[in-house]
Amino acid sequence: MMEKAIIGGTGVYDVGEESYTKKVSTEYGEVEIELVKIDGEEIAFLPRHGKGHSVPPHLINYRANMMALKNIGVKYIYATVAVGSMNEKYTPGDIVVITDFMDFTKARPITFYEGGEKGVIHTDMTNPYCENLREVFYRVANRENVEIKGEGTYVCTEGPRFETASEINMYKILGGDVVGMTNVPEVILAKELGMCYAAVGIISNWCTGVEPSGTTIHDIQGAMKGKKEIVTKLFISAFMK
Ligand code: HPA
Repeated sequence: MMEKAIIGGTGVYDVGEESYTKKVSTEYGEVEIELVKIDGEEIAFLPRHGKGHSVPPHLINYRANMMALKNIGVKYIYATVAVGSMNEKYTPGDIVVITDFMDFTKARPITFYEGGEKGVIHTDMTNPYCENLREVFYRVANRENVEIKGEGTYVCTEGPRFETASEINMYKILGGDVVGMTNVPEVILAKELGMCYAAVGIISNWCTGVEPSGTTIHDIQGAMKGKKEIVTKLFISAFMK
């Protein structure tokens, strides 16, 4: 059984001694998971958008993804999420730990419990993101001298379009810090299946209408470079600790 998984991590398969792809079938569909052996321990890697980033955020089969992880025995999940920032404290390239979410998705399945045989379950969302996994992540980042800029509330939009300036203004007023299109329902489904889940955001851009003057696309690409690999390596260290 594989107890540990990383969602969205990239570019680090070569840290392992061996890796192979496993096809896991679930009642929601088939999922390909990369299994990588590191220091004798197997870690599951799940590319959220499928191989080659081919599925847009609103069409990702989140239920198949999360059920596949559950079926192979996963208990602990670290996920990277690319996010836009609407908080001036967080600039492109920064690493931010997600502590809560607001759901503004509109048209995607968001639960395993749809009544009938499956029943009706109202899952508690007091702590959607696992505090223990976060704590270990902070410790490892500190040890490896990787700066974590802060914590934030994640606003999930339906996409695939970006937000309007008015929408971002509204999310800011409501208390959001970063915006993305994929963490809902991923975090909810993990909780429904009893898996501990933590998400770490990498700021890829300023949200619509909040970009301070003077930044350019070029700056942003420079700031982002290598961050996903750094965070994924921290996840691996957190699992190995
Ligand atoms: N909005 C929504 N999702 C995103 C963004 C954004 O600005 N950046 C990365 N994912």
